[in-house]
Amino acid sequence: MVGAEGRAVFFRQDPATIWLTGLSGSGKSSLAFALERRLMELGHACCVLDGDNVRHGLNRDLGFSPADRKENIRRIAETAKLMNDAGLFVITAFISPYREDRAAARRIIGEQRFVETYLSAALGVCESRDPKGVYAKARAGQIAEFTGISAPYEVPEAPSLAVDSGTLTLEESVQLVMNMISSRFRA
Ligand code: ADX
Repeated sequence: MVGAEGRAVFFRQDPATIWLTGLSGSGKSSLAFALERRLMELGHACCVLDGDNVRHGLNRDLGFSPADRKENIRRIAETAKLMNDAGLFVITAFISPYREDRAAARRIIGEQRFVETYLSAALGVCESRDPKGVYAKARAGQIAEFTGISAPYEVPEAPSLAVDSGTLTLEESVQLVMNMISSRFRA
């Protein structure tokens, strides 16, 4: 059996899951891919889980009701755990609006490996950016239960890190997260 120790030696890293949470348009995917690039430049094996590779595949049967979001987050957390067990750093980019669901993800992944990172860009900023045009549709009543408009976002009470993605540049945000990663893990 190859255990966690053997994998840590092979990959030369202690894996963790950087769990990004925040409103739609708060910059989660951009930050996730920039972090992935930085980690790989430093020689780390890592992987991003985001809507494009999860909601279109593994979770294609799920919508946005509270129950479906809970199941979305549960499956993502189980996947991140498997990837961490395989030795990889994982960066997840999902709204994950409910505290209870994020707490469940923390239990699945493990306290030591779970790094809750809150992207705190305010609703007004996210809505004015509206890169996918989803806020306009939600305001027009074309998307039900839209986070921030007609469904809640529960702000993390004690995240490992809060990144003010409403005012910081992408580069500044990457640096903040990298500082935190290298202070806590072999990275
Ligand atoms: S989560 O709440 O279950 O974590 P997730 O991050 O997977 O959400 O998906 C969010 C993305 O799906 C948004 O950025 C947006 O583009 C799209 N989306 C479609 N319907 C909704 C909705 N009702 N609420 C929020 N986002 C939605």
